[in-house]
Amino acid sequence: MDIIRVEGGHTLEGSVHVSGAKNSALKLMAATLLAPGKTTLTNVPNISDVHVMGKVLKRMGATIEVADEHTLVIDTSQVDSWEAPYELVAKMRASTAVMGPLLGRFGKAKIAMPGGCNLGARKIDMHILGLEALGVSFDTDHGYIYADAADGLVGSSVTLEFASVGATENLIMAAVRAKGETVIDNAAREPEIVDLATMLNKMGARITGAGTPVVTIQGVDELHPVEHRVVGDRIEAGTFLVAGALMAGEAGVEVTGFNPMHLGMVLRKMEQMGIKTERIEDGLRVHRVERIEPVDIQTLPFPGFPTDMQAQVMVLSALADGGSIITENIFENRFMFASELSRMGAHIRIEDHHAIIRGVEGFSGAQVVSPDLRGGAALVLAGLTAEGVTEVSAIHHIYRGYERFVEKLTSLGAVVEAASVPDPSDD
Ligand code: EPZ
Repeated sequence: MDIIRVEGGHTLEGSVHVSGAKNSALKLMAATLLAPGKTTLTNVPNISDVHVMGKVLKRMGATIEVADEHTLVIDTSQVDSWEAPYELVAKMRASTAVMGPLLGRFGKAKIAMPGGCNLGARKIDMHILGLEALGVSFDTDHGYIYADAADGLVGSSVTLEFASVGATENLIMAAVRAKGETVIDNAAREPEIVDLATMLNKMGARITGAGTPVVTIQGVDELHPVEHRVVGDRIEAGTFLVAGALMAGEAGVEVTGFNPMHLGMVLRKMEQMGIKTERIEDGLRVHRVERIEPVDIQTLPFPGFPTDMQAQVMVLSALADGGSIITENIFENRFMFASELSRMGAHIRIEDHHAIIRGVEGFSGAQVVSPDLRGGAALVLAGLTAEGVTEVSAIHHIYRGYERFVEKLTSLGAVVEAASVPDPSDD
């Protein structure tokens, strides 16, 4: 069984450069389907989710040249299939991001229904409702969703019930090839969506309003391949900022490769908690916090506090001098991490979608299980400050979205190692 073993108590110093954003790269890769030819993506994170998306595209007939570890040259000119197969969608829900581009390119798509995952039963009803407004008809059969725009995609006005990131992206990637104008109201505003719209516009699309609640798309007849650099990963950056807040030495810890504007609410909450940061070239320096002030947090769509930073900030709240409440408004089941952190000594009570936290002096190292990508990373953060050794298992979750996570922490002075240990369930 693969684990990450952390020895607590070591101060961190130096600088860490974050990779390109997982939650942009995956959609940019899907969007290459809209532009037959060779699209070059740079600053692509070398993580397992990117490898899975690569498999999805290759299964459709694309070729992918890994020019260097972080540069992909994706040629979709020979793509002749519009199916995202079950075994790949089951592995990664984000594979559903090919639905919009396939409809934009071929007018049809066959997508395995995404299973519920460990973040609750994540549905795609809003994707479907929005695409139906663009003239797509849907059928389901034997676990697959069949989407068909028999009479072509027609621009329309769509109001999303909730500012869903995935639904906004799929709608934009279909609307760029629809006839006429599409207006998406209550659109998600995440920086990764701005990154996607920026690349699509370079390809010849005509999108305005990305990053605001109203996105307008004038459909065009064709898109051409381009070169595009993936935006820096704000969530990876936030994760390392929390590591520095917990354990930085005198000089603080520098986190670069991202735009601090993409972490506005996170930085505001960290400041309220007593954590000091300052702007540096291409990022931020963070200092160790002596006494953490308790602060209540609600996760909300951007520019609200990101749900992908909920577990990481819970580590800070669990060590604060007082009581805090963290409310998870985005996912119905994203507190599994709290029960693992409690095994390290945190005092957290879950009531519906609220985590009621009473700060403790410190954690004690323990064997814990990574519940999902961000929870796993947050357990390693907790291990950095815990007394003794923490062993985090199910670390495949972490490798889905964090490139060289152990190496980056080690380069800052953490005593962290990936190890293989006998699986306790082996008899
Ligand atoms: C994206 O997921 C991210 N994933 C998630 O990051 C992130 O947490 C989420 O956006 C919110 O910011 C990728 O970009 C690959 P949503 P997505 O559509 O698009 C419900 C990480 O750790 N919903 O905004 O799936 C859904 O069930 C991951 O990097 C519907 O009910 O998020 C969820 O509860 C985790 N029907 C909520 O909305 C729909 O049609 C948020 O979903 C669509 C969504």
